[in-house]
Amino acid sequence: MASILTTKDIVKQFGAFRALDGVNVEVERGKITLIIGPNGSGKTTLVNVITGVYKPEVGEVIYTRADGKAINITGWPPHKIFETGIVRTFQIPQVFQRLTVLENLLAVARGQRGESVFSAIVKNWVKEEEELVKKAFKILKAVRLDGKWDTPAYLLSAGEMKLLELARALMAGADLVILDEPIAGVPVDQAHEVFKIVKDINQQGITFLVIEHRIDIAFRYVDYVYAMASGKVIAQGLPDQVANDPKVREVYIGG
Ligand SMILES: Nc1ncnc2c1ncn2[C@@H]1O[C@H](COP(=O)(O)OP(=O)(O)OP(=O)(O)O)[C@@H](O)[C@H]1O
Ligand SMILES: [Mg+2]
Repeated sequence: MASILTTKDIVKQFGAFRALDGVNVEVERGKITLIIGPNGSGKTTLVNVITGVYKPEVGEVIYTRADGKAINITGWPPHKIFETGIVRTFQIPQVFQRLTVLENLLAVARGQRGESVFSAIVKNWVKEEEELVKKAFKILKAVRLDGKWDTPAYLLSAGEMKLLELARALMAGADLVILDEPIAGVPVDQAHEVFKIVKDINQQGITFLVIEHRIDIAFRYVDYVYAMASGKVIAQGLPDQVANDPKVREVYIGG
């Protein structure tokens, strides 16, 4: 299998507390990988280590580009990791509430990778702006928000807000999108819609690493699952295998 992201023996401590205790995870390029685990098991901490928010005490994070070149990104600052194409969303949505859906996308594009002040000056400005709007609409169509392009973000439903976050990640030129609880607080029908859209976008070549609690919904859409508990991976495999794993069942339903 072709890996896009590998973590090797990651240890992350907060004082004497070990939030991650030797975590090995492999995300396959082109697939949707899911990480589940109860509250406090270390899922967001792992995302924070992968995206450069925290440096691990031990271990490595390896990103493999589309051309097959493996890069050790351990300890890189967040903006550099973002520039390589690893883009995350947050457990609590970080969109600009007062801006419209379209403006939220254009705001991301201004800080886009590869765009220097120099190139912005030498290029034809109007054309550039037009291209960005075109790109934004293509992405909004993919997440089915094009009908709401001029709606201020604060008027969106919970599900639409998550889709706007996904759209922003795509606008940033993501190769690997990491979604931290994309359906938290989203009603069931909208939650399925979010995962269906993730699946559609995945089929267009974007790799996903998803953190999610609601396994009843998420399991239908993902290719591979890691289960965490107390900072460790306790099970991994196809959704069916993990769902039936005794260790996982014990953590979730007490045996
Ligand atoms: N900055 C921090 N300082 C101290 N402890 C932290 C910090 N961040 C996380 N922790 C602790 O590390 C453990 C793992 O937290 P983390 O947020 O990674 O869990 P999680 O699996 O994402 O949980 P949830 O499902 O509630 O989002 C928890 O016990 C948490 O209290
Ligand atoms: Mg979390």
